[in-house]
Amino acid sequence: MRMKTIIEPFRIKSVEPIHMTTREQREAHLAAAGYNVFLLRADDVLIDLLTDSGTAAMSADQWAGIIRGDESYAGSSSWYHFERAVKDIFGFTHVLPTHQGRAAERILFASVCKKGDVVPSNTHFDTTRANIEFMGAEAVDLVIPEGRVPSSRHPFKGNLDVERLGELIREVGKARIPLCMLTVTNNSGGGQPVSMANVRAVSALCREHGIPLYIDACRFAENAWFIRTREEGYGEKSPIAIAREMFALADGCTMSAKKDGMANIGGFLATNDGRLARRETDLLILTEGFPTYGGMAGRDLEAIAEGLYEALDEDYLRYRITSTAYLGDHISKEGVPIVQPPGGHAIYIDAAAFFPQIPALELPGQALVVELYREAGIRSVEIGTLMFGRRDPETGRETPAPSELVRLAIPRRVYTQSHVDYVVEAILSVWRRRAAVRGYRIVEQAPFLRHFTARLAPLSAPVKAAAR
Ligand SMILES: Cc1ncc(COP(=O)(O)O)c(C=O)c1O
Repeated sequence: MRMKTIIEPFRIKSVEPIHMTTREQREAHLAAAGYNVFLLRADDVLIDLLTDSGTAAMSADQWAGIIRGDESYAGSSSWYHFERAVKDIFGFTHVLPTHQGRAAERILFASVCKKGDVVPSNTHFDTTRANIEFMGAEAVDLVIPEGRVPSSRHPFKGNLDVERLGELIREVGKARIPLCMLTVTNNSGGGQPVSMANVRAVSALCREHGIPLYIDACRFAENAWFIRTREEGYGEKSPIAIAREMFALADGCTMSAKKDGMANIGGFLATNDGRLARRETDLLILTEGFPTYGGMAGRDLEAIAEGLYEALDEDYLRYRITSTAYLGDHISKEGVPIVQPPGGHAIYIDAAAFFPQIPALELPGQALVVELYREAGIRSVEIGTLMFGRRDPETGRETPAPSELVRLAIPRRVYTQSHVDYVVEAILSVWRRRAAVRGYRIVEQAPFLRHFTARLAPLSAPVKAAAR
């Protein structure tokens, strides 16, 4: 009989103190940071849920690999170890090591994209979109309609709308589509998974038209777990077998090993196309490094070679997905509006519904981010108008983002059940006093990616004229 309590499937060998602060100290830190949590010192944060990227705790075996790392410039044993692991799990014939995911994207899109091209995906992550747009091509999001409805409980809300992909191919012609992407899980769409049936259908359509299919594989192991637990016929399959089946349907992938590579840095680009791989290798040498280390040290290659297998461990995945769902379920049953069902790596709170008194242009998401830090020293991130609102440089007029979300991303193997309980308590405490919270205005901002450096000021009362 399986025990009901799901525990962390590891014990702790080395600890890192985190720092308690008083409310007065947090108030002062917020004011000094211009109410932008990117400008806080990490030491002043108690629980850091800013991102799950590069923030994992490594295992004893990974640390052993760090010591073993062979730093030879060419042909290091760590490279062969890394290449063997990537080929074993992902199955592609050519592997290019990069320093993180966006470097793989940069090399891929610089090699296959040209001005006027169109690249469809379920939902492009920001760096993927930016690299495509940098080449003068258009990044198109074709997630299924349920994927855009926060309350919808579709089990695979990350699926790509195959019918719309067919229409796009007919409309623009396959010659202008250098590849199609699938992001697993769909980070920008709430960390929602893609089903094997969907990967198969997208792959079949792409193959019919001779369009290569690439997987943005950052959270491939979490996606494999969702397939196992939610898709008919996969309940008995191991996560690694599911991952292999998924990648066999694709022609290549980009990977940020800072997620399901369980590493703090690293990534790779993989493909089955030998001619393309040669062109990409030229760019790799130009911008990253020699092909047997790319953008990484030998020790990073070792940590990832081990981490990729650890991310596929059943006990780990069960704990990982259950603890994320635990956070989501415990706040949503008290009425906190979240993107349903809980995703793999993060919980997304719908801040517009949380603070209906705060119009979009007064940044309800940022108001919640500030309150979580003020309440309990928790750092989260706004994914709303501060991040994606558009400001007309001529008129200064603001257009709000399509949604106002706050993401609580869970670093891998870092926090325990009691940390998660603490986060639940803090969110519910802000939820109870939500009616008294007011919005923010931007007092200083950069022309692009403003959320990283903007400075804000609290509004004492809602501005009535602001648009929703
Ligand atoms: C889905 C997805 N793709 C690509 C990236 C980019 O990876 P990196 O930050 O390693 O450049 C990320 C990072 O968060 C991501 O979530």
